[in-house]
Amino acid sequence: MKISRRAAAIQPSPTLAITAKAKAMVAQGIDVVSFGAGEPDFDTPEHVKDAAVAAIGAGFTKYTATPGIPELRRAIAAKHERENGLKYEESEIIATVGAKHALYNAFQALVDEGDEVIVVAPYWVSYPDMVKLAGGQPVIVETRVEDGFVPSPDAIRAALTDRTVAVVLNSPSNPTGAVWSREALAGIARVLEGHSCTIITDDIYEHLIYTGEKFINILNVAPQLRDRTLVVNGLSKSFSMTGWRIGWAAGPKPLIAAMQKIQDQSTSNLTSFVQKAAIAALTGGNACVERMRVKFDERRQYVQKRFAAMPGVECAPIGGAFYAFADVRALCPKHYKGQAVGSDTRLAEILLEDFLVAVVPGAPFGAPGFMRLSFATSMEQLEKGLDRIESFVQALS
Ligand SMILES: Cc1ncc(COP(=O)(O)O)c(C=O)c1O
Repeated sequence: MKISRRAAAIQPSPTLAITAKAKAMVAQGIDVVSFGAGEPDFDTPEHVKDAAVAAIGAGFTKYTATPGIPELRRAIAAKHERENGLKYEESEIIATVGAKHALYNAFQALVDEGDEVIVVAPYWVSYPDMVKLAGGQPVIVETRVEDGFVPSPDAIRAALTDRTVAVVLNSPSNPTGAVWSREALAGIARVLEGHSCTIITDDIYEHLIYTGEKFINILNVAPQLRDRTLVVNGLSKSFSMTGWRIGWAAGPKPLIAAMQKIQDQSTSNLTSFVQKAAIAALTGGNACVERMRVKFDERRQYVQKRFAAMPGVECAPIGGAFYAFADVRALCPKHYKGQAVGSDTRLAEILLEDFLVAVVPGAPFGAPGFMRLSFATSMEQLEKGLDRIESFVQALS
């Protein structure tokens, strides 16, 4: 069978693959601790579930308008005005099947064969492959742990060419947990003002910040970029709704209209009764989100404390999201069972196979020598898994 070049050129998601392998081991009765998935362990809030059940009961189970029902788009617009100080009309908003879908449609709408998209490394694994699926070329801007994984304006400037059609910003970041400061965003904005590319700001971890800072994105420091900035967000992480698949994009009308055409010809609307649940989440206040954030914060502090006590593991302060991105470069030359560990990929393999802990190696995030641990799991699991990682570190010679 002929498989397209596009499909052949991309990789399966490594985070989903590791999570699937860990789940398969658990299904065989093996006691694996999984730190792989970027998925809160909390249940979806009751009032949100109730709204979906009521919608199904009321027969709200048919197609809707592709970008979502007007009531949902109004709720998204109200959220942006209330929480982010950004005003959008209904026609500037499209609701999608998760934030991933919004990003996918955005790249399909923006990128032609050979166009370049700037992606900041370490990056969320899907950005480069989504760019490639649209025929584009991801251009990677490296950041350093010493700089808190925040890109310098000069590095962005150096990556911009006349083929650059978009740049992707993600703060708080997956996988690093970095929260970009106002100054950092202002510096990047100044560089981008001198170019015509579209800016995509992926704000999915907006509500998960532990530094006490208020969330801001590039439009809060450079509102003049509004006409070419697409804001992507969703409820997966903040309201623990990963399986519901609800996200959205807000931005310039021509881009939203292009994304809508693509969505018209692919998925159509996101699930009708999920839209009602999303309205309940967006209009019901954020007390439940804050309760989850406080729990994540306790876990974050615990993970940082445990890593700080492990020789050879360096974990920079985690500002947001729910990932620890630990530098394990010092462990790679060490020996395990008589052989050098060698790489983060091998390290993750040993951890899973011999110590029954699933972490994601740094390489697929564009950061070899690191490992990502999701702390969106219970304290008991964290204690057990970190004890096992510690045993691994002690077993190295
Ligand atoms: C940075 C980032 N953006 C987007 C997404 C996708 O979110 P959703 O589940 O809403 O598709 C994720 C999920 O892991 C993510 O980490």
